[in-house]
Amino acid sequence: MKKITIAIDGYSSCGKSTMAKDLAKIVKYNYIDSGAMYRAVTLYALRNNLFEGDYPNEPALKECINRIHIDFRQNETTGKSDTYLNGENVEKEIRSMEVADKVSPVAAVGFVREALVKQQQEMGKGKGIVMDGRDIGTIVFPDAELKIFVTARPEVRAQRRLAELAVKGENVSFEEVLQNLAKRDFIDTTRKDGPLRQAGDAIVIDNSDLTIEAQNAQMLKLFERSLES
Ligand code: CDP
Repeated sequence: MKKITIAIDGYSSCGKSTMAKDLAKIVKYNYIDSGAMYRAVTLYALRNNLFEGDYPNEPALKECINRIHIDFRQNETTGKSDTYLNGENVEKEIRSMEVADKVSPVAAVGFVREALVKQQQEMGKGKGIVMDGRDIGTIVFPDAELKIFVTARPEVRAQRRLAELAVKGENVSFEEVLQNLAKRDFIDTTRKDGPLRQAGDAIVIDNSDLTIEAQNAQMLKLFERSLES
């Protein structure tokens, strides 16, 4: 059966990964969370004192970039895929506010993007993949057969992220989360390399008021249409 590439991009915390994960499960494709890779590089930089204030020390990070190995492994208990950094499961740690606070300046660094985009393209070589991020439909897979650009109202996004963090026992305020999202969106949309941008041929979905079921039904329809064309 024909296999396609599905690129899902959008702002921080607009539910891209839920959409991407669910669709991958329904159509039995691989799911890759590209944001997790930028988060893992950020965690590495934090652990190795490669930050000067809010920004990474670029020469120091450049020296290490080839020693940072990221892969995804299926977790038999949760049934989900976990992120590994140099062989260590860092799935929980990369979702912290500390990492969220520092990830966008790291993701704005040209050589970091170059290294990760290369790995992402390698992962998608055989098609049959759903990848979510910021530059998937524009830079990573410009020829993807199905591109979706997701949006949601900022308050809805902050509320969703707050709920996620609460489950993980992180105690942060709504304001803090809202500010973090606004800051990341600003850096992500204004950076020089691979800025967050809607691809010309992407389909826009605002999921602020969509249930997961309605969202999945819509995605499946788009998938089936892409297979036929
Ligand atoms: O899930 P959330 O929306 O919070 O973000 P994420 O997908 O985990 O991505 C974390 C950060 O990585 C983003 O704010 C971007 O700065 C960066 N990123 C990127 O630059 N390019 C991508 N393809 C994916 C993520």
